[in-house]
Amino acid sequence: MRIAVVGATGMVGQVMLQVLAERNFPVTELYPVASERSIGKKIEFQGKDYEVIGLQEAVDIKPDIALFSAGGETSLEWAPKFAENGTTVVDNSSAWRMDETKKLVIPEINASELTKEDKIIANPNCSTIQLLMALKPLHDAFKIKRVIVSTYQSITGTGVKAVEQLENEYRDEKGEMAYPYPIHKNALPHCDVFEENGYTKEEMKLTKETKKILGDDSVLVSATAIRIPVVGGHSESVNIEFENDFDEAEVRKILSEFPGVSVQDNPVTNTYPMPIYAEGKDDVFVGRIRRDYSQPKSLNMWVVADNLRKGAATNTIQIAEYLIANKLV
Ligand SMILES: NC(=O)c1ccc[n+]([C@@H]2O[C@H](COP(=O)([O-])OP(=O)(O)OC[C@H]3O[C@@H](n4cnc5c(N)ncnc54)[C@H](OP(=O)(O)O)[C@@H]3O)[C@@H](O)[C@H]2O)c1
Repeated sequence: MRIAVVGATGMVGQVMLQVLAERNFPVTELYPVASERSIGKKIEFQGKDYEVIGLQEAVDIKPDIALFSAGGETSLEWAPKFAENGTTVVDNSSAWRMDETKKLVIPEINASELTKEDKIIANPNCSTIQLLMALKPLHDAFKIKRVIVSTYQSITGTGVKAVEQLENEYRDEKGEMAYPYPIHKNALPHCDVFEENGYTKEEMKLTKETKKILGDDSVLVSATAIRIPVVGGHSESVNIEFENDFDEAEVRKILSEFPGVSVQDNPVTNTYPMPIYAEGKDDVFVGRIRRDYSQPKSLNMWVVADNLRKGAATNTIQIAEYLIANKLV
């Protein structure tokens, strides 16, 4: 496969290259792509140096697959140009997620929707992916009525500039700010931009993308997204109200049997998911599974995943693997 990685110099792009190598993805040619600022820079992949090229050059090369993680505007402008030239695009930005003509895919959940005609495929938001990995098997078993989710999100979710901001603040040095306030020793109830309804775009992504991926508009979602000075992964406190009652042991069994989910849940040994253990791993970790005694048929749990892996790069590459395995490219 001739693969373009668009945004190869970025936080997600770098992890994509790592995941492509780790999974022995069948790359015959690699084309790292970034903004004009980076053209000519060297990118290392599997022990070989590759020169960063520009978007138009990459379109003209007509790669088989383009893995995009270069922001929404770049995707809106350039993904159609790749697609028109016969390249299948898997896009990490929010540009196409809610477009009714585009599929929003988590391979463990809905890859079977994909066809050869899908030339631009959307990767869900990082906090949505880990949430849905835990919700889907429970929705199938007990039918979810309502979800209340509060996120505690890693600064790596904002990209390279946010990591630099935190590092500068650690060293007490001035520098470019990715956030409107310091992030060191702080918690910002503000992920992505505010919308007119008082929620942030990140909170609305959690709400809308959940319905689209489950293919069920009846599932109600209320989200609060918080940025915290953590690297390694996003954490989520999740409260679910089901249509049907459940047994906690059954919940643990269902979650642990779902591919890509790992249950870490033993209060006796202080076992629960944490970003420091999720970092660099592809699984979504679920723990603190317990009945919500304040209302019937309700459950609390804690969900952690590396937002750069399953939340972005790994999910994208799993989609590409599915396309190849099913001869859709
Ligand atoms: N971080 C996450 O956890 C996460 C998760 C899911 C989805 N995403 C999405 O993935 C995308 C990238 O996120 P990131 O965290 O990797 O950001 P980042 O670290 O800021 O990297 C951005 C990348 O996009 C490239 N780029 C920017 N403007 C461009 C342009 N006009 N033309 C071509 N390339 C351009 C940059 O190239 P230069 O180095 O040349 O500037 C860089 O390679 C965003 O859409 C983000 O929403 C991120």
